[in-house]
Amino acid sequence: MRALAVGLLLAAVQLASAAPTPIPTPEPFSGMNAGTGDSTPIPVSEEDITSQLVRPALFARAVYCSSPVVETWSCGEPCDALGSNVKVLVAGGDDEKIPNFFVAYDQDKDTVVVAHQGTEPKNFLSDLNDLEIVQVGANTTLLPGAGDDVKLHDGFAATQGRTADLVLSTVQSALDSTGSKQLQVIGHSLGAAIASIDGVMLKMKLDPSIAITTTVFGLPRVGNQAWADLVDSTLGSSFTHVTNQNDPVPRVPPQFLGFQHPSNEVHISAVDPTGNNATATFCPGQENDQCADSNNILDASVTNHRGPYFANISMGNRFCPL
Ligand SMILES: *[C@@H]1O[C@H](CO)[C@@H](O)[C@H](O)[C@H]1NC(C)=O
Ligand SMILES: *[C@@H]1O[C@H](CO)[C@@H](O)[C@H](O)[C@H]1NC(C)=O
Ligand SMILES: *[C@@H]1O[C@H](CO)[C@@H](O)[C@H](O)[C@H]1NC(C)=O
Repeated sequence: MRALAVGLLLAAVQLASAAPTPIPTPEPFSGMNAGTGDSTPIPVSEEDITSQLVRPALFARAVYCSSPVVETWSCGEPCDALGSNVKVLVAGGDDEKIPNFFVAYDQDKDTVVVAHQGTEPKNFLSDLNDLEIVQVGANTTLLPGAGDDVKLHDGFAATQGRTADLVLSTVQSALDSTGSKQLQVIGHSLGAAIASIDGVMLKMKLDPSIAITTTVFGLPRVGNQAWADLVDSTLGSSFTHVTNQNDPVPRVPPQFLGFQHPSNEVHISAVDPTGNNATATFCPGQENDQCADSNNILDASVTNHRGPYFANISMGNRFCPL
């Protein structure tokens, strides 16, 4: 199975003719030369990492903890690292068809947070390399702005659909009851795929005055070119997907099966031995061939999928045993 996966990934590398589409967007990270059409990666400063990426990464780690300890915010270090002012409004998941998820109010940041758990990369990779992958049209009840040309990975769309109504209603009541105007949507791995669909859904459904930020880690390709364009046009620079070194997950499903990433990749090219200092670049355009797409697939590292990302934060069941 592993040999087949590598073979398909190699085919993807050879067949994919990545044509990065320059998208003019406002600056999510200082130093980004938006709108110039230049795809040269731009260093992301330690300040931007600290202010924009560390807290989302901490939430993406905490959602791997079981719902009972998340509900009471007693999941140990993954919860403690976020402080005690996180009020969980709903937490669920069944370790099968519904990965763990929660909706919380992050009082310190006056932000409502939606987070989705991922899955173990080994099983995930063989599924995502399956040539039988089916793309389905978007559910326009959930994504009313999606055209007929938008196609999503059927498994990702189905998994997102299982929590969509509860996430939407909980977020709506949380925004109403707290008066917050800010929403942060987060996920890692499979959870990153769900979070990116959630981000577009919430942007289409909620009042336009709500500022939605979607930050995901280790994102696989979720849909076709029309989907990638829809993410770009709906979320713009409020969407960020972080890729870590030689993680193979962002390379699947392959582009030759009709999958495409949206814009706004932040690529970590190196992490120091303490796991604390990441060297990261902002990669303009979709499928920037100087970032995760340039990785040598033969060096693919499933360990890189787990992290560490920033501030020695790794994600997966083993990083939240409670
Ligand atoms: C689309 O989403 C709505 C709302 O969650 C759900 O009731 C409906 O069954 C979904 N349709 C399909 C085809 O999955
Ligand atoms: C980094 O995190 C890992 C896993 O959580 C832990 O085992 C290790 O001790 C941490 N390293 C440092 C330098 O904090
Ligand atoms: C990261 O590296 C810089 C310079 O190499 C150092 O000054 C800083 O303390 C490091 N930060 C962490 C969190 O290790």
